[in-house]
Amino acid sequence: MLVFLKFKSGLVARVMDILDKLTQRYGEYIEAALSRYLSLDAAPDFKDAVLYQISTGGKRLRPLLALATAEAVSGDFKPAIPAAAIVELIHNYSLIYDDIIDRGDVRRNKPTTRKAFGDYAAILIGIWYREAIEEAVLETPKPPLFAREVAKVIKAIDEGERLDILFEMAGREDPYFVEARWREVKLDDYIRMVSLKTGALIAASAKFGAMSVTDDSSLINAAWDFGMNAGVAFQIIDDVLDIFGDPKKFGKEIGKDVKEHKRGNIVVLLGLGELDEKRRGELLSILSKPAVGDADAKRAVEILASTNAKETALRLADEYKEKALGALARLPSSKDLEELATFIVQRQF
Ligand code: IPE
Ligand code: IPE
Ligand code: MG
Ligand code: MG
Repeated sequence: MLVFLKFKSGLVARVMDILDKLTQRYGEYIEAALSRYLSLDAAPDFKDAVLYQISTGGKRLRPLLALATAEAVSGDFKPAIPAAAIVELIHNYSLIYDDIIDRGDVRRNKPTTRKAFGDYAAILIGIWYREAIEEAVLETPKPPLFAREVAKVIKAIDEGERLDILFEMAGREDPYFVEARWREVKLDDYIRMVSLKTGALIAASAKFGAMSVTDDSSLINAAWDFGMNAGVAFQIIDDVLDIFGDPKKFGKEIGKDVKEHKRGNIVVLLGLGELDEKRRGELLSILSKPAVGDADAKRAVEILASTNAKETALRLADEYKEKALGALARLPSSKDLEELATFIVQRQF
């Protein structure tokens, strides 16, 4: 009987998704910390609006990564709970503003904060997240060090978002963006933009987990390298899903990056490099329209589907996953981190 049970639990563990497994282990600690930091000082009639963004869920990839890294490095994840809350709060802080910037209405299959409460309320809620991050910093093992690192990663995301907007082809009236817009975007530019916009926070997630439990800089740097490479792979897959995903699984609008005139989507970028002149011209003219409608976005996806951009993008994501696994070799062996890297490139949501 005992053998059977052991066999059975082994089997269950193997088929269980890595996110489910880590959520079962760490989820309650993450949720409690998030709502505690966000609820501090909130007026009773504002609290629900503040908590809405995290109540819509999401994968909680970043805090799970922070805690799994801490556990891999030291065998203990509890000292990293404030760090885990910090990275999920930064993530949601950036999403609240990203949805204002990208005019996003749907996320996690639910109305975005800006859709539910309006852009102005979303701006105030975003400020609340920034200050909740500060509250969490105070509870880390090294507040001054974490405060500096938090500032660095938020500035990196800000810079990545700025480049993402500058890579757009149309659709904004702000004089700064119209004048500074880039005429050409290369693969290296894309990698720099996504390293900042997305890689930096996933890198910080692993790094903050390690920093919470060790001072050993070789381990902290290895954690950062793992997260940065995994993070670039993560954004490449997000871009592929934006164009070719299943909206129900992905939880966001498909073709949204085309509607937002983005050349900073890897599929668009690679597709443009591959198309013959006629269809390249057609795709560019869709991306340059002041307003890209449903039919335009559908046609753009059709054009992109006729190229090898998706396959090339998936191969690129895989290369970054392999680099992430290379960095893992410098950390104490961790099956969980390995599985997280695999999840990142295989995910459909
Ligand atoms: C979405 O991130 C934003 C990107 C960096 C692509 P996630 O896909 O991790 O978002 P949630 O938290 O699971 O909704
Ligand atoms: C990543 O960029 C978002 C942030 C860094 C905040 P996207 O614009 O691709 O993210 P989604 O697709 O809206 O989640
Ligand atoms: Mg967006
Ligand atoms: Mg996206």
